[in-house]
Amino acid sequence: MKGKALVTGGAGFIGSKIAERLIDDGREVVVYDDMSTGHQHNVPKEAGFVKGSIDNYGLLRKNLKDVEVVYHFAASASVIVGVEQPVFDLENNVKGTVTLLNAMRDTGVKKILFPSSSTVYGENKIPMKEDMQLNPMSPYAVGKIADEFYLRSYYNLYGIEPVIFRVFNAFGPNQDLNNTKQGITGFVIGCIMQNRPFPLHGDGKQTRDYIYIDEVVEAFMLAEEEKRAVNNPMNLACNTQTSLNDWVELIEEVAGKKAKTQKGNPFRQGDVMHYRADVSKLGKVLGFKPKANFEGQLEETIEWAKEHLKKHK
Ligand SMILES: NC(=O)c1ccc[n+]([C@@H]2O[C@H](COP(=O)([O-])OP(=O)(O)OC[C@H]3O[C@@H](n4cnc5c(N)ncnc54)[C@H](O)[C@@H]3O)[C@@H](O)[C@H]2O)c1
Repeated sequence: MKGKALVTGGAGFIGSKIAERLIDDGREVVVYDDMSTGHQHNVPKEAGFVKGSIDNYGLLRKNLKDVEVVYHFAASASVIVGVEQPVFDLENNVKGTVTLLNAMRDTGVKKILFPSSSTVYGENKIPMKEDMQLNPMSPYAVGKIADEFYLRSYYNLYGIEPVIFRVFNAFGPNQDLNNTKQGITGFVIGCIMQNRPFPLHGDGKQTRDYIYIDEVVEAFMLAEEEKRAVNNPMNLACNTQTSLNDWVELIEEVAGKKAKTQKGNPFRQGDVMHYRADVSKLGKVLGFKPKANFEGQLEETIEWAKEHLKKHK
């Protein structure tokens, strides 16, 4: 597929990087975003831009004209917001996805790529494998499971091909540096670079499977073309397990500066203690193995953050 792509949530972290890559690959791209957590400066200049909500069926329908594929990244990307406002999470993330699917059905758009989440596994056996029993521990996780199944049902009903990645902990350029409720790596870097205290929740022994944004984007690009990726949810991670304490230490080393860590805050509700993905399916289906060269990848992220903070104070 090389036709026009609609990137919902394309003013956010992952969506903007997807849009950038599609444009680099010579594709026509329209970004569709309500700007609730996104930023105009993330939207590539070469992309068309529509400000609109994912629950606006009419506007979606209008903008799906001539679109060949939808990259659907518009969502509230926060476990914390979901715990605080479960009905908002449900409406934004699940009703929004179903509204988009209806608009795709009614305009004949036949492909959608979607980021589900590691949170669908909850506290579970490590490494987490796609076929294991899911154990959602937050409304956000429930919403992602519902989305996965809505996507799969619209495939069975209408032949709209879904590609579903369960993305673990993404980091890299364009991640928000100031949002305390999502994206821990960007937030820690933002605290360090702006001399702001970093509130550590829990004891820092919680582990995550981090993955660099370019590797996330690469997997999505490979999957758009791969028939075996259709209706076949896949983990997207590196099969590594790093504690938050070690991750902050590595960021400090690369940045050459200590974080002002504030300890003693309670573990956040809905959070999961340990994550690590089995990534054998990713290898088998896409022939893709992320490099997990964290030091170099954090260097690139911090370089970007420095430049970004000069331009967007
Ligand atoms: N960042 C990660 O590590 C990660 C991991 C797993 C899954 N995901 C998923 O990837 C997607 C993108 O996450 P992100 O980290 O880039 O977050 P982000 O907040 O940077 O991007 C989300 C974008 O969607 C937009 N948006 C939100 N609600 C909308 C609505 N109702 N209508 C239109 N636009 C709306 C926001 O303005 C924002 O630009 C989300 O679905 C998230 O759940 C992210």
